Amino acid sequence: MNNQKVLISSNDFPETGLKVLHEHFTVVQSRFNNFGEEGLKENKEELLNLIPGCSALVWISHHPITKELLDKAGPNLKMIAAASAGYNHCNVEELKARGIKLSNTPNVLSSAVADIAVALMLAASRRFTENLGQVRSGLWRIGFQYELGQEIRGSTVGIIGLGGIGQTVVKRLVGFEVEKFIYTGRKEKPEGKALGAEFVSLDNLLAQSDFVVLAVPLTTETKLMINSTTLGKMKQNAILINVGRGDLVDQDALYDALKSRRIYAAGLDVTTPEPLPKDHKLLTLPNIFILPHIGSATERTRSDMAVLAANNVVNALQGKPLITPVLQ
Ligand code: DGY
Repeated sequence: MNNQKVLISSNDFPETGLKVLHEHFTVVQSRFNNFGEEGLKENKEELLNLIPGCSALVWISHHPITKELLDKAGPNLKMIAAASAGYNHCNVEELKARGIKLSNTPNVLSSAVADIAVALMLAASRRFTENLGQVRSGLWRIGFQYELGQEIRGSTVGIIGLGGIGQTVVKRLVGFEVEKFIYTGRKEKPEGKALGAEFVSLDNLLAQSDFVVLAVPLTTETKLMINSTTLGKMKQNAILINVGRGDLVDQDALYDALKSRRIYAAGLDVTTPEPLPKDHKLLTLPNIFILPHIGSATERTRSDMAVLAANNVVNALQGKPLITPVLQ
């Protein structure tokens, strides 16, 4: 143990990750989390109090890492371990300018997030929102021709972003008798061939896919990539799935496309903002199924993410290369 101080940014960090950190460092942990306005406010104050002099920060939320926080940390801060695959909230340019390292937790969450992508495909195609509404109201429309949905069997599945999550979605779907897998992204990937997925342009993918699965990180290039123009290029029976980030999608355009039945349905694990206000217009639609960003939320995966984040801190503070670097 040495006296380098590591701050964990909320009170809900798995024991497995804590154990790794306690073996090496003095660990300080926020007593709060980021639930609701009150939680956010309390946690912000707590973090500003605890951060001075810290050498590393384990960041457990999608809330922005602000200049205020970095200033308060002072010159000791050498690295931030984001306990997430996405790092769009991490102020990368500012960290780079200050020479602070950054790691994330890719790959360990691919299985759990891919499971949720498949769950959303089923939920949206088989009309879970409407059907759950019927169970809740007791008014079942049981009939031979009612509540008919669509199948994954025989469909073309288009993956936008064939990274760890996108590849795992393809593997998960093998038993579903998908007719064709296609994908798009910055460049063709060797893994695509092995998975039997064909690399196509975005326009081609939108025109062919029965399911469009968003599994890309949020960057300036991908922000709002699903908008009225791209939605207009999709098939009328298309189902949009988003397990990336809410800001990949122009939600007003998505609302219009779903309301007018320009596309068939959508399944979202991520929205803008999060939480989505309970009176948000997307929630009035029957043909959308929304989850509260639970892609990686299994005991096993969150533990793996915690241990990976903790080991990145160990490496950084011991002068070794980061295991999963964003900024080395
Ligand atoms: C991630 O890791 O980026 C997922 O969205 C879960 O937080």
